[in-house]
Formats: sequence, structure tokens, C-alpha cells
Amino acid sequence: MRCLVTGCAGFIGSTLTDRLLALGHEVTGFDNFSTGQREFLSGALDNTQFTLVEGDLLDAGRVETAMQGAEFVFHLAANADVRFGTEHPTKDLHQNTIATVNVLEAMRKNGVLRIAFSSTGSVYGEARVFPTPENAPSPVQTSLYGASKMAAEGFIEAYCEGFGMQAFIFRFVSILGERYTHGHVFDFYKQLRAHPDVLNVLGNGKQRKSYLYIQDCIDAILTAIEKGQSKVNIFNLGLDEYCEVNDSIGWICEELGMKPEMQYSGGDRGWIGDNPFIFLDCSAVRALGWRPKLNIKEGVLRTVRYLRQRPELLDRR
Ligand SMILES: NC(=O)c1ccc[n+]([C@@H]2O[C@H](COP(=O)([O-])OP(=O)(O)OC[C@H]3O[C@@H](n4cnc5c(N)ncnc54)[C@H](O)[C@@H]3O)[C@@H](O)[C@H]2O)c1
Repeated sequence: MRCLVTGCAGFIGSTLTDRLLALGHEVTGFDNFSTGQREFLSGALDNTQFTLVEGDLLDAGRVETAMQGAEFVFHLAANADVRFGTEHPTKDLHQNTIATVNVLEAMRKNGVLRIAFSSTGSVYGEARVFPTPENAPSPVQTSLYGASKMAAEGFIEAYCEGFGMQAFIFRFVSILGERYTHGHVFDFYKQLRAHPDVLNVLGNGKQRKSYLYIQDCIDAILTAIEKGQSKVNIFNLGLDEYCEVNDSIGWICEELGMKPEMQYSGGDRGWIGDNPFIFLDCSAVRALGWRPKLNIKEGVLRTVRYLRQRPELLDRR
């Protein structure tokens, strides 16, 4: 299969690119390196089946040209940081919604009919049902990130209806593992390297979250696109467990052999738009036969071990 992967230099996009190449697919990677890391593509660049296109998704003509000959689009490029939305109120709209429309237009013009899209569990906003199913009633958006992804999902669905496309929409919990460059383990480890005696925690540490290991996430995506039959296939991707932020801090500190003094900013959430409880019902993707291999604790520990081997990454974001 000839694939286009947007965000190919990112945490998830580069891991997916490596997996697609290992499976024998031809991959064109598209990235503007705003948060992507060139070193994540070192293996791919040695593979003759891989072509890198440096470009920005907001440059519609560039995406259209890069997509020529593709049969399947994996659209992962985005502003992936939910936390800072209110500091730049239109960034999510441009990077996540308009960029997605540019991808869809490039597909329409090139006759590409299949897309996988990295959405997020944040689209459920302040969910009222746990574990939250894909058909949770009318989620109310609480973050600009979640709102921009929900809008992008809507455009994808409308393009499927209007232009005969097929979509696979994945609503991820937070992903952990090798090449991780943003998220709570990153923030905590960065702090502990700088000042091992004190750890500042946003909120009260009792936020409950679910996480998924990167290779399990890629397995789920590939299982779903192989087996999903509907015009629009929407899957939550996560584990059937969650932990408190404090649990994760305990595992990180134990792994590092540190006992910092904890300083909580207070309140039941870390930032505006943070959801104090994220726990998704993943029975739909499990029904396709997908089974995750790592639990949350193992994912957190692998992430800490990875970051310890790559301290230079901490200074890049
Ligand atoms: N990591 C998670 O926990 C998580 C959770 C839920 C959803 N997601 C979604 O998964 C996708 C991948 O996330 P990630 O963690 O790998 O993030 P990442 O920041 O590591 O990767 C995003 C990649 O997209 C590229 N990019 C960003 N804007 C671009 C643009 N305008 N044009 C071209 N390239 C651009 C970046 O340079 C980077 O390589 C995102 O869509 C994100 O919203 C991630």
C-alpha cells in the first residue's frame, strides 16, 4: 500500500512510519518539524520505500502534491498539546481543523479514499459516563484542542458522505513509550532532573487518567483499518484501567530512586480544560481482536527509562 503519513517525525507518526515500512508498505512522510525530531526518522530515511516531504499542512498546494499516488492517508500532524490552548486561542483551529480540511481537499483532488485520523479522548470534554463509549451523549467541549479535533472529525465525516471516502477516527487516551516528547512523565522527569528535591504538580494529583503504550496504540490502529467495515469507523483507544497522577508520580520516583517534596497547585484539575477523569470504553476495538500488551505502570516505566537514555530531548520542548 502507498501511504502518506502526516506528522511522520512526531512521537506517534514516526513509530507508525517505522511499522508501516517494516510491513513492506511504501510511505511518504510529511512534516514541518515544528515538534518533530529528525532523529526519529533515521531508520526510515535509510529505507528506499520512504520519501520525506518537508512542508506545512497549511500550505494546501504542498500537501496536494505530496499526496499524489497515495492510497491511504494517516493524518497525525497536529498541535498535540492540549494544555496551552488558551495561550494561543486560534492555534488549534489552524493546526488541527484547517490543516485537516487541507488534507481532505488534497485527498479529494487526488482521488484518495481512505484516511486514519488521530483524534483524542479530550473530545468527550467533561464526560458524564465512565468508561466513556464512542456514542457518549453530546459531549460539551472544555478545551480548544478537543473542540478543534471534534470539528475535524465532523469535516472527515462530511467528506466521507460527500465524496465516498472511508475514515478511521481514533480517540486516544495519552500515549506513552519510546519517542515520547510531551506529557506528564516528560514534565515530571524534566523537573526532577533540574531539582530532585521538589516536584510541582498541577492540581491535587488525584486526577484519574488512562494511558496506552505506543506499540499497543499502533497495533490497534492497524487492526482497526484492516477490519473496520463502516464508512466512518470511530474507535476509542486506551486501556481498561486508569490511575491517579499520584500513582504515576510514585512509579516515576521509585524508578529514579528519588523522594521529592510534593508541591500541589491545588484544585481538582491541572489547567483550564483539563479533565479530572479520563477513562474510555474500548470494547469496540477489543471486539476486533486487539489486545494491549502493557499495563499503565509498565508504560510509565518504559517512558522514564527512554527519557533517561535521551536527556537531550528534555531541552528541545
Ligand atoms: N501523544 C498523545 O498522548 C496523544 C493523545 C491523543 C491524541 N494525540 C494525537 O496524535 C497525533 C500525534 O501526536 P504526537 O504525540 O505524536 O505529537 P507530536 O507533536 O510528537 O507529533 C506531531 C507531528 O506533526 C508535525 N506537525 C505539526 N503541525 C504540522 C503542520 N502544520 N504541518 C506539518 N507537520 C506538522 C510536528 O512537527 C510533529 O512531527 C496528534 O494529532 C495528536 O493530537 C496524541
